[in-house]
Amino acid sequence: MKTLLENIYNSAKADIDNALTIADIDEIRLKYLSRKGEFNSIKKGLKDLSDEDKRTVGAFANQITEDLEQMLKLKHEQFYQKEMTERLQKDRIDITLPGKFVPMGKIHPLTQTTNEIVKIFQNLGFSIVDSSLSPEVETEYYNFDMLNVPKDHPARDVQDTFYLSLASNVVLRSQTSGAQIHVMENQKPPIKVISPGRVYRNENVNARKNNFFHQIEGLYVDKDITFGDLKGVLNEFIRQYFGSSRPTRFRSSFFPFTEPSAEVDVQCIMCQGKGCRTCSGTGWLEVLGCGMVDVNVLKGVGIDTDVYSGFAFGMGVERLAMLKYAVDDIRLFFNNDNRFLKQF
Ligand code: DAH
Repeated sequence: MKTLLENIYNSAKADIDNALTIADIDEIRLKYLSRKGEFNSIKKGLKDLSDEDKRTVGAFANQITEDLEQMLKLKHEQFYQKEMTERLQKDRIDITLPGKFVPMGKIHPLTQTTNEIVKIFQNLGFSIVDSSLSPEVETEYYNFDMLNVPKDHPARDVQDTFYLSLASNVVLRSQTSGAQIHVMENQKPPIKVISPGRVYRNENVNARKNNFFHQIEGLYVDKDITFGDLKGVLNEFIRQYFGSSRPTRFRSSFFPFTEPSAEVDVQCIMCQGKGCRTCSGTGWLEVLGCGMVDVNVLKGVGIDTDVYSGFAFGMGVERLAMLKYAVDDIRLFFNNDNRFLKQF
């Protein structure tokens, strides 16, 4: 048995001498020293020997396996050093290579404008309506009926408003004003809110008009709210947004949901009021509609009009951005042309 052990030992030693890589070393360890390796199968035979032989052969077997372990360990260390050095040489990185260019993303100019407008109104005490109260897919009830828009009003026409085939009376909202109704149904005065969002209109697209755009709706309902409050808030907004030097004008107007109603025009920045393609020759661009909330609207949502009054407004985000940054065509905001977007 001892001879058998010696033979295996010699053959293992020869294998170790011939090994060239860490992988070879691992293989040898597996072949001779693992649980299923050659030594172990021999050691199993020890139990059949006399006690005396068991002791000497056992000791011998232990010694040569220890020897082999030691040799393997040494070789492993040698190879490890060598292979590591080789790999470090080969994998060396060139720190002078230029890095990969990662272009910076930017916030879309309309989002920037919206954020700026929202901030001004927040500073004036308005809070933002929860988006669940300002859905883009609306019923005629919120988009028109509750806003006092007559059944035969031209805005209801399919030429102006997108109707959905989901059900009759379902529209893509044509204005954010419906949010006013949702809010007043859910909240008692005082109410002082704004609601930004996207609206849709069945328009012929041109430099000033797109078939979807963005509005910011405002509503302030409390005791003793007057048209003076409306003018004060909107003038302050315009002063903060444009600076005090930009010519603006209040012009009387009509909306079914406000009485009296007005619109605010801002002088066209493209032609300084001389008249151009963007302002269709008028020298002005309308940026918002506003007025005192019609008593019919307040009564519709159960607000006591002997106690409360309010004003409302709705402004066009694209128009306000065009007038601030001298963008002469609304379509530029939606073409995703990086040369345009990069400038903001
Ligand atoms: N909804 C109107 C529009 O889209 C704008 C507007 C006018 C909103 C008067 C209002 C308002 O809240 O009081 O043209």
